[in-house]
Amino acid sequence: MAASNDNDIIIEVRDLVVKYGDRTVLDGINFQVRRGEIFVILGGSGCGKSTLLRNLVGLMRPYSGRILINGQDFTAMNDEERTDARKRMGMCFQGSALFGSMSVGDNVALPLREHTRLEESTIEIMTKIKLELVGLGGFGDFLPAELSGGMKKRAGLARAMAMDPEIIFYDEPSAGLDPIVAAGLDGLIRKMQHTFNLTSVVVTHEMESVKQIADTVCMLERGRIVGLGALEELRALDYPYVQQFFARRAQDESQIDSAEYLRSLTGLE
Ligand SMILES: Nc1ncnc2c1ncn2[C@@H]1O[C@H](COP(=O)(O)OP(=O)(O)O)[C@@H](O)[C@H]1O
Ligand SMILES: [Mg+2]
Repeated sequence: MAASNDNDIIIEVRDLVVKYGDRTVLDGINFQVRRGEIFVILGGSGCGKSTLLRNLVGLMRPYSGRILINGQDFTAMNDEERTDARKRMGMCFQGSALFGSMSVGDNVALPLREHTRLEESTIEIMTKIKLELVGLGGFGDFLPAELSGGMKKRAGLARAMAMDPEIIFYDEPSAGLDPIVAAGLDGLIRKMQHTFNLTSVVVTHEMESVKQIADTVCMLERGRIVGLGALEELRALDYPYVQQFFARRAQDESQIDSAEYLRSLTGLE
């Protein structure tokens, strides 16, 4: 089909159905992600966001449907092909998933040590660059437990960036962070987009974050898409998150401004 040959489309999901046992948790999902955009998957707890991500990165096989990455059918690949394709994707898991017994630097270096034959000195330089990129220069020798929640997320992002992926996936990057730290992380996600033209797929339930980063919003409710488009286009939609957001927006404007101000102080954008 024309769409999958289009160089601007990096991910295409067609009629995706995912089940756990007999239970259908994603039912007829269709969307496209454009190269270089920030595509946000929004929805309440349990609606299927993490399940969708797991399918997009090939950690789970769908019941039916297709997932095309750069026009190639991810669901039809064998294990080796899928492992290869996954090397070009970065994944920031919910809760950062750093190895507690390894230094932050070793965590970031891990994908390079596992998937490349680069010299140790090269790996060290690349690790340093990735830590600098996320604002953690100088923290390479720390253990994850010595970092704050926001710093752990940044370290997770540095690790996801280790192999210079062309797509990066985030599962609830700002969950459990205070608003200022969350705003800093949003700034970082934007910075990755601007600096590397990186495509990002971000799962969240935070409307504030959506406003800051989303080029396209995909709203999920109980395993189905209930809205797809730019946030402004979804204004008319009868969806509680969006309605609450637009209703509150005027009175929250000052708060949003202060978050922007604080982000400007951190120099992330
Ligand atoms: N491994 C699993 N086995 C069975 N059911 C699951 C599993 N993971 C998630 N689910 C169920 O699938 C639904 C979607 O879960 P999930 O994708 O984690 O939602 P979200 O990330 O939006 O909170 C939920 O009802 C959840 O209980
Ligand atoms: Mg989840």
